[in-house]
Amino acid sequence: MTTANKDKLSSARFSEATDAFVEIFTASVDFDQRMAQQDIQGSIAHATMLCKIGILTETERDDIFQGLKQIGEEIERGEFQWSVQQEDVHMNLEARLTELIGIAGKKLHTGRSRNDQVATDIRLYMRSEINSIIAVITRLQTALLDLAEQEADTIMPGFTHLQVAQPVTFGHHLMAWFEMLVRDKERLEDCLKRVNIMPLGAAALAGTSYPIDRELTSELLGFSRPSANSLDSVSDRDFAIEFTAAGSIIMMHLSRFSEELVLWASAQFSFIELPDAFCTGSSIMPQKKNPDVPELVRGKSGRVTGHLVSLLMLMKGQPLAYNKDNQEDKEPLFDTADTLNNCLRAFADMVPHIQAKPENMYSAAKKGFATATDLADYLVRKGIAFRDAHEVVGLAVKLGLESERDLSEISLAELQGFSALITEDVFDILSLEGSVAARQHIGGTAPDTVRAAIKTARAAYL
Ligand code: ARG
Repeated sequence: MTTANKDKLSSARFSEATDAFVEIFTASVDFDQRMAQQDIQGSIAHATMLCKIGILTETERDDIFQGLKQIGEEIERGEFQWSVQQEDVHMNLEARLTELIGIAGKKLHTGRSRNDQVATDIRLYMRSEINSIIAVITRLQTALLDLAEQEADTIMPGFTHLQVAQPVTFGHHLMAWFEMLVRDKERLEDCLKRVNIMPLGAAALAGTSYPIDRELTSELLGFSRPSANSLDSVSDRDFAIEFTAAGSIIMMHLSRFSEELVLWASAQFSFIELPDAFCTGSSIMPQKKNPDVPELVRGKSGRVTGHLVSLLMLMKGQPLAYNKDNQEDKEPLFDTADTLNNCLRAFADMVPHIQAKPENMYSAAKKGFATATDLADYLVRKGIAFRDAHEVVGLAVKLGLESERDLSEISLAELQGFSALITEDVFDILSLEGSVAARQHIGGTAPDTVRAAIKTARAAYL
C-alpha cells in the first residue's frame, strides 16, 4: 500500500496537501477493496450505457472493458497495488484504469459520482452475500429435517422454566429450530427485495444532466428497477439496517440453539454427543471435551446485534443526502455477512453428526412427572372440571415425590384414593409414549404428526 501524497483526489481546488494522518484517517480502501469486483461490474454496466447514449465511442467502451478485465485479474491474483492516497476502492480502480488505457479511463466517471457508485456496489455485494446466507440456511434446514426424521420417535422431556414440563419427541424439538429458520430465511428474502433496487444514476445527489438510460443499467446489473429518488438513492442505508436486523435475529436463534446444545452435551443432561471434530480439549484437564463451536456461535451473536446498533446510530443524525459518515457502514456490514456465513456453516456441518442419547432423554422425561397434565386431561374427560382435576393430580404428584415414584409407577388403588373415576386405562395415558402419541393435532408432538410435518416442510421449503 502506498501513501505518498501526490496526485491526490480533487487536488486542483486545494492549495495545501492533505495532512498525512488525515489521508489515512479518511481512507476506506483497506476495507472497501472487498467490493472491487462489484465496482468493476457497475463500471461495465455504466460504460455500456454511456456508449449507448453516445457519450463514449465503441472503442473507448471496449478499452474500458479491457482495462477493467485486466484490473479484475490483477486483483484476483493479489497483484493489484492498492494505494491509501487514492482513498477508496473506486478511486484506486479508476486511477489504475487511466494508467492502463489513458483518456478513456478518465471518461468513465461521466454522469456518475462515487455516491451512487458506492451505494450500487454495496447493494450488489449484499445481494450476493444474502443469497449465499440463504443457501447455507437451507443446508442447515436440510440437516435438521434429516435428524428430526431419524429422531421422530425419540422421547425427551420438554421444558418450561428449564423444569421438566411435558414429554415431547426430539424430532419435534428439532423441528422448532427448523421453523425459526423458515422465518429467518423469509426475512432475508424480504430484505433482498429492497436491496435489489439500483441507485446508479443518482450521481452525487441530484441526478445528472446527461440523458442516461437507467433502465438499461438496472437490467444489466440484474436489479429489479432503478431507484425512484436521487436524494434517497445516495443517502439510504436502511436496507443495510434491515439486513443487520435480520442477521441479529438469526444470530439470536443460533445462540439459543447453541445454549441448548451446550446444556445437552453436559454430563448433567447427557442428551447428546457432539462430534469430536466440533469440540476441543482443555489444556489442563485431560477429561474435558468442550462444546467450543456452539459456545463461540453464542458469543458471536453479540457482535451482530452491535452492528445493528452501530448502523442505526450511524444514520440517525444525518441530513440528506450523502455524508461521509456513510463510509462507516461497510465494516459492520461485512462483518455481519461473514459472521452469519461462518456460524451457519459451522451449524450446517455439525448438525448431521449430533448423536442423540435416547435412553438418557427417556429417563430424564420419566423423572419430572411429565405426564401430570395428561392425568388431569384424563380426569376432565371423565367429567371433572379442569381446576379440580389439577388439584387431584397435585396430590398424586405429592405422593410420587414422597415415595420417589413416577405417576405411572403409582398403583391403581392408590390413584383411586385421589379420585374414584380413575380406572385401569389410566396407565395408557400415564406412559410417555401415550402422552406424546395423544398430541396429534397440527403442530403437535406425536411421532406420526412430526413425520407428516417433516414431509410437508421438505416439500414447501427445500
Ligand atoms: N468511500 C466512500 C464511502 O464509502 C465513497 C463515497 C465517497 N463520496 C464522497 N463524496 N466523499 O462512502
